Amino acid sequence: MALNGQLEGIVNLSERWRTSAQRSNFLELTARGYMTWRRRSLSLLTGSPLPLEREAAYFIALCAPQAGQSWLDVGTSAGFYAGILARRGAQVLACDISPAMLREAARQETHPNISYALLNAEQTGLPAASFDGVCIGATLNETASPPDMLAEAQRLLKPGGQLWLMALARDGSPGQGLLSRLGGLTFADEAQLAAWLPGLAQTDGWRRGNVLFGRWIKR
Ligand SMILES: C[S@@+](CC[C@H](N)C(=O)[O-])C[C@H]1O[C@@H](n2cnc3c(N)ncnc32)[C@H](O)[C@@H]1O
Repeated sequence: MALNGQLEGIVNLSERWRTSAQRSNFLELTARGYMTWRRRSLSLLTGSPLPLEREAAYFIALCAPQAGQSWLDVGTSAGFYAGILARRGAQVLACDISPAMLREAARQETHPNISYALLNAEQTGLPAASFDGVCIGATLNETASPPDMLAEAQRLLKPGGQLWLMALARDGSPGQGLLSRLGGLTFADEAQLAAWLPGLAQTDGWRRGNVLFGRWIKR
């Protein structure tokens, strides 16, 4: 794994704030099997076919990432969003707190436009207004403090920059309650997201079952 040299000094990894879900992503086995799960995950979670190709097409249609733009992929795992962005010509900083995930991403997505970095996306230490776009694909559910992650994404966006979010929304089910207690997962609804994104305006939103997709613009 090649870390971007200038970022090596600002890794912020503290055992204290990791959720159980985050810790599970440190396992080599989880990282190796991640894409096998990811390919099927949204179809299984929504109960109707929602392949990666459809998710990618929706992301591209709404966000229209372009050559020369700079994007942050928050919690890249195996590099799914980073790969889409890089193939559209964007420069991508793909971050994750799991070294195992970053190694897997670097194996699967070798596009030269991607730099991988071991970073806590709740507090990156990167300069404000660094990115034209930030994408958060399911990482919000896992992180210890979703409001901190969204506040950091807002800080990192340039004015007019866009945020893309794919997340599991709150449905109040006993299953989600159990996952919250045991795994430290957070499930937010649209109203909660709006409250956590005070400086952004939502332009698009789509919900299939309890999976939501949305695009916001920084005012
Ligand atoms: C559910 S996976 C999402 C993967 C990817 N975005 C996708 O759409 O396929 C969540 C990933 O985010 C990482 N992660 C969780 N909390 C994070 C944080 N605070 N900062 C950076 N990465 C984080 C995990 O290690 C894991 O690889």
